[in-house]
Amino acid sequence: METITTISDLRERLDAERGAGRGVGFVPTMGYLHAGHLSLASASVADNPVTVVSIFVNPLQFAEGEDLDSYPRDLVSDSAQCAALGVDYLFVPSVEEMYPSPIVTVVEVPSVATPLEGLTRPHHFAGVATVVAKLFSIVGKCRAYLGAKDWQQVCVVERMVSDLSMPVEVVACPTVREPDGLAMSSRNVYLTSEERVQAPVLRAALDAGLDAIAGGETDSAVVEATMAAVVNTAGLASLEYAAAVQADSLVSDGPLHGEVRLLVAARFGKARLIDNDGTEI
Ligand code: PAJ
Repeated sequence: METITTISDLRERLDAERGAGRGVGFVPTMGYLHAGHLSLASASVADNPVTVVSIFVNPLQFAEGEDLDSYPRDLVSDSAQCAALGVDYLFVPSVEEMYPSPIVTVVEVPSVATPLEGLTRPHHFAGVATVVAKLFSIVGKCRAYLGAKDWQQVCVVERMVSDLSMPVEVVACPTVREPDGLAMSSRNVYLTSEERVQAPVLRAALDAGLDAIAGGETDSAVVEATMAAVVNTAGLASLEYAAAVQADSLVSDGPLHGEVRLLVAARFGKARLIDNDGTEI
């Protein structure tokens, strides 16, 4: 595995790979890799002759007061894990390399970015879409592997790729969980041991919502109330939202139908956790 820190070096290597007929798989991350990230890298290594993993803690997607400065980092371990999986290139640009001057071009995908996460993090997805557009422009034609754990992020990136005709095939991969159901996240390290015990309540809330739908419930408000009640059984959880929506638009438009997504977000002390799951009616 080669570690690359400049945009020009990465472009040169990947142009040469594609020129030699080797297709590229790309896994964008912010590092502090866990089994969820590694599942994306494994899927890419299995599907593509060449895999690039990027590690870049993107300042644009953090609001004032969020955890940009304390975001966990461990490049030595990340690098060893990627090499062990057969990743070919690790792209680790500095903030100066990515943003040599303040960026004024912003990619916004308002219809998909506005509900749910957008309500509490209004600028988050513009930051995500802008850096992902920039990374796609640097990497070039590729398959990009994203986690369904961040369902709204997948929707934003898919819509951006489609609207802007980017030469990228987005592959959404299933959420990897701890044995007790908690979705793996770099932010789980913020949980105290008491909070960690209660955090799987998010998975339990999604299961309760899925059970209600399996039992014939199509009223999104009822499904949402069912999920909220489960989250509220955890004394250390502060619920932000529990939503039952159409999977593509992320809003409900009358009785739930077709592809439905259930999404929850809650704070546990310093940690803000999200989770989601889907079903078809
Ligand atoms: P990050 O949070 O590091 O996540 C990188 C990728 O790993 C994302 O596609 C995310 O959905 C996926 N992922 C995280 N936890 C997962 C889990 N438990 N199972 C499966 N996949 C999981 O998401 C970002 O970084 C950033 O917003 C980024 C897209 C890199 C842009 O800065």
